[in-house]
Amino acid sequence: MGDEMILKGQVLSFGDSPFDVPPLDAARFDEALVLRDGKIVAVGAFAALRKAHPLAKIIDYGPHVILAGFIDAHAHYPQTAMIASWGKRLIDWLNLYTFPEEMKFADEAYAAEIASRYLDLTTANGTTTICSFCTIHPASVEAFFGEAQARGQRVVAGKTCMDRNAPEGLRDTAQSGYDDSRALLQRWHGVDRISYAITPRFSPTSTPEQLEAMGALWAEHPDCLMQTHLSEQTDEIEWVKSLYPDARDYLDTYEAHGLLGARGLYGHAIHLEARERDRLAEVGASLVHCPTSNMFIGSGLFDLGGLKDSGLRVGLATDTGGGSSFSMLRTMAAAYEVAQLRGRALHGAQLIWLATVGSAEALHMGDKIGNIAPVMEGDLVVLDLASTPAIAQRAQNASEIWEAMFATIMMGDDRAVADVWIGGRRFEENAR
Ligand code: GUN
Ligand code: ZN
Repeated sequence: MGDEMILKGQVLSFGDSPFDVPPLDAARFDEALVLRDGKIVAVGAFAALRKAHPLAKIIDYGPHVILAGFIDAHAHYPQTAMIASWGKRLIDWLNLYTFPEEMKFADEAYAAEIASRYLDLTTANGTTTICSFCTIHPASVEAFFGEAQARGQRVVAGKTCMDRNAPEGLRDTAQSGYDDSRALLQRWHGVDRISYAITPRFSPTSTPEQLEAMGALWAEHPDCLMQTHLSEQTDEIEWVKSLYPDARDYLDTYEAHGLLGARGLYGHAIHLEARERDRLAEVGASLVHCPTSNMFIGSGLFDLGGLKDSGLRVGLATDTGGGSSFSMLRTMAAAYEVAQLRGRALHGAQLIWLATVGSAEALHMGDKIGNIAPVMEGDLVVLDLASTPAIAQRAQNASEIWEAMFATIMMGDDRAVADVWIGGRRFEENAR
């Protein structure tokens, strides 16, 4: 039996979804949790846990909130260095800013440098699991997985496949996309805390042959996730229709090639037609909401309320660097604002749930990460609800915990992250 640790604070967990029951009934606060061998083994009243675990070391976080580490269900780590690129909408933004940056990942050393920088930045923001796109270069996947493995971090990622409508040097082929993806999957999937996701970028940058090959690979490895983009901008949708004249709609370009399923992750999904929404719900697919990106690139307002009401699984994500932040707190604030523009006011518990349990369930990892309960993995973030003078004065004027939490959700950033635990180990450099 390894060393035990008791973390004391305001321990936030979810017994139910705050989209299914009243938010205050879904969330609970306990006094402490116990970590052992990388996992959470107990949650409850401090005195009882102390009595049951007399030899455990105690870390007292005082009034700070201890919750599951944030889970970013859709990101592009290779876009770290070109985040916040000005003035373009999706297709021009990809061609002008994104593809030239992704080209640099032919250089293994550059890929390793950015992977490390990206995981430093996201950890500082309290994100403990990321589902990321890489570039077409196998070395970009090796770099990301290698860095995550060294940190003991749970990540999902895959080689981004593109065999058309991308510049020379940033295209694979249907065959090489399949072969390289398969080799990476066989080398990494299920190793330590690493999962491989089959990753066709989106329909415009793949030929039907490539989508078919990706579908075949997924059929051969059905336990893998598959990630892509869907219906982000209206001119993208028109382009897809012209590239795939026989498709009923955008989703059909995936469905016709074996790329629709329960373990599929569809980023954005803003401008869905009724058939698409019904079909996604029918197969139990996951949608990923990327609100800072949707506003930054001018994509549109995701219908969170309607899609949740349709029973769809929805995760939350930054979509770095289409998204304008590495912070899931900033992302929750953007989700609140987008929902407001659609006439729904999300409760703080719903926002936190989306960034933890919601994203974990979207990744089919809800039994391992995203919540605090025995025997979930020890991925935690500790939030200071008074991290800046502006937030502190608002929190002081709060009559209950969710009022204070909401100020940190709306105004907080990496300064609110007092500590981070990954796999039961403390990230000392983040300790304040
Ligand atoms: N659609 C296809 N590729 C991308 C990308 O890198 N970012 C965003 N936001 N949308 C995409
Ligand atoms: Zn994306």
